[in-house]
Amino acid sequence: MSFVIAIDGPAASGKGTLARRLAAHYGLPHLDTGLLYRATACALMDEGLPLDDVEAAVEAARGLSLIDFDEARLRGREMGEAASLMGAMPAVRAALIDLQRNFASRPEGAVLDGRDIGTVICPNATVKVFVTASPETRAQRRALELASRGEEVDYAAILEDVKRRDARDSERSAAPLKPAADAVLLDTSELDREQAFAAALAIAEGGRMKARA
Ligand code: CDP
Ligand code: CDP
Repeated sequence: MSFVIAIDGPAASGKGTLARRLAAHYGLPHLDTGLLYRATACALMDEGLPLDDVEAAVEAARGLSLIDFDEARLRGREMGEAASLMGAMPAVRAALIDLQRNFASRPEGAVLDGRDIGTVICPNATVKVFVTASPETRAQRRALELASRGEEVDYAAILEDVKRRDARDSERSAAPLKPAADAVLLDTSELDREQAFAAALAIAEGGRMKARA
């Protein structure tokens, strides 16, 4: 049976961490789809092109190769902001669909995390989780993460980033950030990493049993 786990949620909700751990637990491949939008923005920046050049962005999105990703660079604060501009362009989203669906259609299944996995990319996923946490909690987590990587941290600016990105991702017309009707909501505001993983695993197991029945 193919086992596809779709994890969506806003910035720094912990979806990537959960997706990685679930993938390791079940021995499935994992795709952090945010990296696709980050890498598209990065390609434009490297060529000195403006971030609103739709044609160039579509070409960059079509030319992406998962093995070329420099994750340390792509996960920087500036790149998250630029990625959300890419995510608001319907033509860029369309250019990234096949790559994501091909990844999800491996025989054993896969874990994908992002904003529209349960709604658009994998509407038939075995399990859908929508991870949330308060903006303050998420900004704190992102600040700790950036500080641990040696980036300069200004909590107030990071909280602003988080709120601005929430608004842009939720209000855009193309695949706005929202839970799929059949997603299970997981609020991690009061949960540490272990508790959040235990809760996500329980949801995944529930979905797996249901699909087998
Ligand atoms: O890790 P974080 O949630 O901060 O960001 P990310 O998942 O790497 O996504 C960066 C940006 O890419 C988001 O703010 C979205 O605008 C966009 N994105 C998207 O539109 N759809 C996805 N499936 C994944 C990311
Ligand atoms: O992928 P997304 O942007 O949603 O978040 P992430 O990169 O998985 O997590 C952001 C930060 O929050 C990481 O440093 C995690 O270790 C931390 N964290 C978490 O993921 N879950 C918690 N319950 C507490 C902290």
